[in-house]
Amino acid sequence: MTDKYAVIGNPVAHSKSPPIHAEFARQTGQDISYDRLLAPLDAFEATVRKFFDEGGKGLNVTLPFKHEAWRFSEAQGMAIGANAVNALKFERDKSGRGKISGYNTDGIGLLRDLRGNLGCGLEGKRILLMGAGGASYGVMEPLIREQPERLIVVNRTLGKALSLAAHFRTVLGVAQQNISALAYAALGDAQFDIVINATSAGLSDAMPPLPAGVFGPDALAYDMVYGKMTPFLRFARAGGARIADGTGMLVEQAAESFYLWRGVRPDTAPVIELLRRQAQG
Ligand code: ATR
Repeated sequence: MTDKYAVIGNPVAHSKSPPIHAEFARQTGQDISYDRLLAPLDAFEATVRKFFDEGGKGLNVTLPFKHEAWRFSEAQGMAIGANAVNALKFERDKSGRGKISGYNTDGIGLLRDLRGNLGCGLEGKRILLMGAGGASYGVMEPLIREQPERLIVVNRTLGKALSLAAHFRTVLGVAQQNISALAYAALGDAQFDIVINATSAGLSDAMPPLPAGVFGPDALAYDMVYGKMTPFLRFARAGGARIADGTGMLVEQAAESFYLWRGVRPDTAPVIELLRRQAQG
Protein backbone atom coordinates (compact mmCIF):
# COMPACT_ATOMS: atom_id res chain seq x y z
CA MET A 1 0.00 0.00 0.00
CA THR A 2 1.21 3.51 -0.80
CA ASP A 3 2.33 5.35 2.36
CA LYS A 4 1.17 8.95 2.62
CA TYR A 5 3.44 11.91 3.41
CA ALA A 6 3.11 15.67 2.92
CA VAL A 7 4.58 19.06 3.68
CA ILE A 8 2.35 21.18 5.88
CA GLY A 9 2.53 24.99 6.05
CA ASN A 10 0.72 28.24 5.38
CA PRO A 11 1.36 29.17 2.64
CA VAL A 12 2.59 25.90 1.16
CA ALA A 13 1.97 26.20 -2.58
CA HIS A 14 5.57 27.34 -3.19
CA SER A 15 7.15 24.32 -1.46
CA LYS A 16 9.70 22.37 -3.48
CA SER A 17 9.47 19.36 -1.15
CA PRO A 18 6.95 17.31 -3.21
CA PRO A 19 9.12 17.05 -6.36
CA ILE A 20 12.21 16.38 -4.22
CA HIS A 21 10.54 13.49 -2.37
CA ALA A 22 9.01 12.18 -5.59
CA GLU A 23 12.52 11.95 -7.02
CA PHE A 24 13.86 10.26 -3.86
CA ALA A 25 11.00 7.73 -4.04
CA ARG A 26 11.68 7.04 -7.71
CA GLN A 27 15.41 6.57 -7.06
CA THR A 28 14.96 4.20 -4.12
CA GLY A 29 11.82 2.38 -5.31
CA GLN A 30 9.81 3.41 -2.23
CA ASP A 31 6.03 3.30 -2.61
CA ILE A 32 5.01 6.68 -1.18
CA SER A 33 2.90 9.71 -2.07
CA TYR A 34 3.97 13.20 -0.96
CA ASP A 35 1.59 16.16 -1.22
CA ARG A 36 1.17 19.73 -0.04
CA LEU A 37 -1.12 20.28 2.95
CA LEU A 38 -2.36 23.78 3.72
CA ALA A 39 -3.20 24.19 7.42
CA PRO A 40 -5.36 27.08 8.65
CA LEU A 41 -3.23 29.34 10.88
CA ASP A 42 -5.42 28.54 13.89
CA ALA A 43 -5.80 24.79 13.25
CA PHE A 44 -2.32 23.37 12.72
CA GLU A 45 -2.48 20.62 15.33
CA ALA A 46 -5.99 19.55 14.30
CA THR A 47 -4.87 19.32 10.66
CA VAL A 48 -1.86 17.20 11.62
CA ARG A 49 -3.93 14.84 13.75
CA LYS A 50 -6.52 14.42 11.01
CA PHE A 51 -3.77 13.59 8.49
CA PHE A 52 -2.43 10.92 10.81
CA ASP A 53 -5.88 9.58 11.71
CA GLU A 54 -6.46 9.09 8.01
CA GLY A 55 -3.34 6.94 7.72
CA GLY A 56 -0.60 9.51 6.99
CA LYS A 57 2.89 8.37 8.03
CA GLY A 58 4.89 11.58 8.22
CA LEU A 59 4.93 15.31 7.61
CA ASN A 60 7.50 17.95 6.89
CA VAL A 61 6.62 21.16 8.68
CA THR A 62 7.33 24.55 7.21
CA LEU A 63 6.60 28.17 8.16
CA PRO A 64 5.00 29.31 10.37
CA PHE A 65 4.41 26.07 12.27
CA LYS A 66 7.84 24.69 13.24
CA HIS A 67 7.64 25.92 16.82
CA GLU A 68 4.06 24.75 17.27
CA ALA A 69 5.05 21.32 15.96
CA TRP A 70 7.81 21.23 18.58
CA ARG A 71 5.30 22.08 21.32
CA PHE A 72 2.92 19.20 20.75
CA SER A 73 5.14 16.44 19.35
CA GLU A 74 7.62 14.34 21.28
CA ALA A 75 10.81 16.18 20.31
CA GLN A 76 13.83 13.99 19.56
CA GLY A 77 17.58 14.66 19.22
CA MET A 78 18.50 18.10 17.95
CA ALA A 79 14.85 19.19 17.83
CA ILE A 80 14.85 19.41 21.61
CA GLY A 81 17.23 22.39 21.84
CA ALA A 82 16.17 23.90 18.51
CA ASN A 83 12.68 24.61 19.88
CA ALA A 84 11.55 23.74 16.36
CA VAL A 85 10.46 20.65 14.48
CA ASN A 86 10.46 20.29 10.70
CA ALA A 87 9.71 16.58 10.42
CA LEU A 88 7.00 14.56 12.15
CA LYS A 89 6.83 10.79 12.22
CA PHE A 90 3.73 8.91 13.24
CA GLU A 91 3.96 5.50 14.82
CA ARG A 92 1.70 3.15 16.76
CA ASP A 93 2.79 0.90 19.59
CA LYS A 94 1.57 -2.68 19.96
CA SER A 95 -1.58 -1.56 21.77
CA GLY A 96 -2.38 0.75 18.84
CA ARG A 97 -1.62 3.94 20.75
CA GLY A 98 -0.34 6.68 18.45
CA LYS A 99 2.88 8.61 19.01
CA ILE A 100 3.98 11.71 17.11
CA SER A 101 7.77 12.14 17.19
CA GLY A 102 9.26 15.47 16.15
CA TYR A 103 12.68 15.91 14.53
CA ASN A 104 14.73 18.80 13.24
CA THR A 105 16.59 17.92 10.05
CA ASP A 106 17.37 21.52 9.01
CA GLY A 107 20.62 21.73 10.95
CA ILE A 108 21.93 18.38 9.80
CA GLY A 109 20.89 19.36 6.27
CA LEU A 110 23.03 22.49 6.45
CA LEU A 111 25.93 20.53 7.87
CA ARG A 112 25.78 17.86 5.18
CA ASP A 113 25.73 20.54 2.52
CA LEU A 114 28.66 22.42 4.02
CA ARG A 115 30.79 19.38 4.76
CA GLY A 116 29.77 16.89 2.11
CA ASN A 117 28.77 18.95 -0.91
CA LEU A 118 30.88 22.07 -0.44
CA GLY A 119 33.89 20.41 1.20
CA CYS A 120 33.87 22.94 4.02
CA GLY A 121 34.66 21.44 7.44
CA LEU A 122 33.76 23.53 10.47
CA GLU A 123 36.22 22.38 13.09
CA GLY A 124 38.48 25.22 14.23
CA LYS A 125 36.72 27.72 11.95
CA ARG A 126 35.46 31.20 12.76
CA ILE A 127 31.73 31.20 12.00
CA LEU A 128 29.39 34.17 11.80
CA LEU A 129 25.67 33.35 11.89
CA MET A 130 23.38 36.19 10.84
CA GLY A 131 19.88 36.23 12.31
CA ALA A 132 18.35 35.04 15.58
CA GLY A 133 14.96 33.71 14.46
CA GLY A 134 13.71 30.17 13.95
CA ALA A 135 16.16 29.44 11.12
CA SER A 136 19.11 30.15 13.44
CA TYR A 137 17.66 28.09 16.30
CA GLY A 138 17.39 25.16 13.89
CA VAL A 139 21.08 25.12 12.96
CA MET A 140 22.90 26.18 16.15
CA GLU A 141 23.37 22.77 17.76
CA PRO A 142 24.91 20.98 14.77
CA LEU A 143 27.20 23.97 14.14
CA ILE A 144 28.40 23.99 17.76
CA ARG A 145 28.91 20.22 17.78
CA GLU A 146 31.43 20.59 14.94
CA GLN A 147 33.65 22.53 17.38
CA PRO A 148 34.32 25.77 15.53
CA GLU A 149 36.96 28.03 17.06
CA ARG A 150 34.30 30.68 17.51
CA LEU A 151 30.61 31.09 16.70
CA ILE A 152 29.19 34.60 16.74
CA VAL A 153 25.50 35.29 16.25
CA VAL A 154 24.83 38.74 14.88
CA ASN A 155 21.37 40.26 14.75
CA ARG A 156 19.61 43.56 14.11
CA THR A 157 17.78 43.14 17.43
CA LEU A 158 20.67 42.35 19.77
CA GLY A 159 18.46 41.03 22.59
CA LYS A 160 17.29 38.12 20.41
CA ALA A 161 20.87 37.14 19.56
CA LEU A 162 21.85 37.28 23.24
CA SER A 163 18.92 35.02 24.17
CA LEU A 164 19.76 32.56 21.39
CA ALA A 165 23.43 32.31 22.39
CA ALA A 166 22.53 31.95 26.08
CA HIS A 167 19.94 29.28 25.28
CA PHE A 168 22.45 27.06 23.46
CA ARG A 169 25.21 27.62 25.99
CA THR A 170 22.77 26.29 28.59
CA VAL A 171 21.35 23.46 26.50
CA LEU A 172 24.77 22.20 25.41
CA GLY A 173 26.86 23.31 28.38
CA VAL A 174 29.51 25.02 26.24
CA ALA A 175 32.02 27.71 27.16
CA GLN A 176 30.90 31.30 27.06
CA GLN A 177 33.83 32.54 24.98
CA ASN A 178 33.14 30.21 22.06
CA ILE A 179 29.58 31.31 21.47
CA SER A 180 28.60 34.93 21.65
CA ALA A 181 26.17 37.49 20.32
CA LEU A 182 26.87 40.89 18.80
CA ALA A 183 25.14 43.76 17.04
CA TYR A 184 26.26 44.35 13.42
CA ALA A 185 27.90 47.64 14.41
CA ALA A 186 30.07 45.82 16.96
CA LEU A 187 31.64 43.45 14.40
CA GLY A 188 34.35 46.00 13.65
CA ASP A 189 37.04 44.45 11.49
CA ALA A 190 36.56 40.87 12.72
CA GLN A 191 36.99 38.26 9.97
CA PHE A 192 35.29 34.91 9.53
CA ASP A 193 35.87 31.72 7.55
CA ILE A 194 32.16 30.94 7.16
CA VAL A 195 29.37 33.53 7.11
CA ILE A 196 25.87 32.07 7.15
CA ASN A 197 22.80 34.16 6.40
CA ALA A 198 19.86 32.79 8.40
CA THR A 199 17.90 36.05 8.20
CA SER A 200 14.86 36.49 6.03
CA ALA A 201 16.39 39.67 4.53
CA GLY A 202 17.08 38.07 1.13
CA LEU A 203 13.42 37.24 0.60
CA SER A 204 12.68 40.97 0.35
CA ASP A 205 15.93 41.77 -1.45
CA ALA A 206 17.30 43.45 1.67
CA MET A 207 20.84 43.30 2.95
CA PRO A 208 21.83 43.08 6.63
CA PRO A 209 24.33 45.83 7.58
CA LEU A 210 27.47 43.69 7.34
CA PRO A 211 30.92 45.34 7.30
CA ALA A 212 32.76 44.83 3.99
CA GLY A 213 35.87 43.27 5.56
CA VAL A 214 34.01 40.43 7.25
CA PHE A 215 35.22 37.71 4.85
CA GLY A 216 38.54 36.11 5.74
CA PRO A 217 40.82 34.51 3.13
CA ASP A 218 39.01 31.61 1.34
CA ALA A 219 35.79 32.44 3.20
CA LEU A 220 32.51 30.75 2.33
CA ALA A 221 29.31 32.83 2.30
CA TYR A 222 26.16 30.73 2.64
CA ASP A 223 22.60 31.99 2.25
CA MET A 224 19.86 29.68 3.51
CA VAL A 225 17.47 31.23 0.99
CA TYR A 226 17.45 28.99 -2.07
CA GLY A 227 17.32 29.52 -5.80
CA LYS A 228 18.03 33.23 -5.56
CA MET A 229 21.05 35.51 -5.93
CA THR A 230 20.40 37.55 -2.77
CA PRO A 231 22.00 40.94 -1.99
CA PHE A 232 24.10 39.11 0.64
CA LEU A 233 25.50 36.67 -1.94
CA ARG A 234 26.28 39.52 -4.34
CA PHE A 235 27.98 41.42 -1.52
CA ALA A 236 29.98 38.33 -0.56
CA ARG A 237 31.07 37.64 -4.13
CA ALA A 238 32.22 41.25 -4.48
CA GLY A 239 34.14 40.76 -1.21
CA GLY A 240 36.05 37.79 -2.69
CA ALA A 241 34.15 35.02 -0.85
CA ARG A 242 33.02 31.73 -2.33
CA ILE A 243 29.21 31.67 -2.35
CA ALA A 244 26.46 29.07 -1.95
CA ASP A 245 22.69 29.36 -1.73
CA GLY A 246 20.43 27.09 0.33
CA THR A 247 19.50 24.62 -2.41
CA GLY A 248 21.83 21.96 -1.01
CA MET A 249 20.48 22.43 2.51
CA LEU A 250 16.90 22.12 1.24
CA VAL A 251 17.64 18.81 -0.49
CA GLU A 252 19.80 17.45 2.35
CA GLN A 253 17.16 18.19 5.03
CA ALA A 254 14.61 16.43 2.81
CA ALA A 255 16.94 13.44 2.43
CA GLU A 256 17.36 13.27 6.20
CA SER A 257 13.56 13.30 6.65
CA PHE A 258 13.22 10.60 3.99
CA TYR A 259 15.80 8.52 5.86
CA LEU A 260 13.94 8.97 9.16
CA TRP A 261 10.73 7.77 7.60
CA ARG A 262 11.92 5.08 5.19
CA GLY A 263 15.34 3.96 6.52
CA VAL A 264 17.03 4.49 3.14
CA ARG A 265 19.31 7.31 2.03
CA PRO A 266 18.59 8.79 -1.37
CA ASP A 267 21.33 10.22 -3.58
CA THR A 268 21.08 13.99 -3.19
CA ALA A 269 23.58 15.18 -5.83
CA PRO A 270 21.35 14.74 -8.93
CA VAL A 271 18.40 16.39 -7.15
CA ILE A 272 20.49 19.43 -6.14
CA GLU A 273 21.73 19.63 -9.71
CA LEU A 274 18.18 19.47 -11.07
CA LEU A 275 16.91 22.25 -8.77
CA ARG A 276 19.89 24.46 -9.67
CA ARG A 277 19.18 24.00 -13.37
CA GLN A 278 15.49 24.81 -12.83
CA ALA A 279 16.37 27.98 -10.83
CA GLN A 280 18.55 29.18 -13.70
CA GLY A 281 15.49 28.78 -15.91
P1 ATR B 1 12.89 32.71 10.68
O1 ATR B 1 12.04 31.82 11.49
O2 ATR B 1 12.88 32.44 9.20
O3 ATR B 1 14.29 32.84 11.19
P2 ATR B 1 12.06 35.15 11.95
O4 ATR B 1 11.91 34.47 13.25
O5 ATR B 1 11.05 36.16 11.53
O6 ATR B 1 12.15 34.14 10.75
O7 ATR B 1 13.50 35.82 11.95
C1 ATR B 1 13.96 36.55 10.88
C2 ATR B 1 15.40 36.98 11.16
O8 ATR B 1 15.84 37.77 10.05
C3 ATR B 1 15.54 37.85 12.40
O9 ATR B 1 16.78 37.58 13.00
C4 ATR B 1 15.51 39.26 11.79
O10 ATR B 1 16.15 40.23 12.58
P3 ATR B 1 15.37 40.91 13.83
O11 ATR B 1 15.35 39.89 14.92
O12 ATR B 1 16.18 42.09 14.16
O13 ATR B 1 13.99 41.24 13.30
C5 ATR B 1 16.29 39.03 10.53
N1 ATR B 1 16.05 40.03 9.48
C6 ATR B 1 14.97 40.16 8.69
N2 ATR B 1 15.13 41.17 7.82
C7 ATR B 1 16.36 41.69 8.05
C8 ATR B 1 17.13 42.76 7.48
N3 ATR B 1 16.66 43.48 6.46
N4 ATR B 1 18.37 43.00 7.98
C9 ATR B 1 18.85 42.27 9.01
N5 ATR B 1 18.18 41.24 9.59
C10 ATR B 1 16.96 40.96 9.12
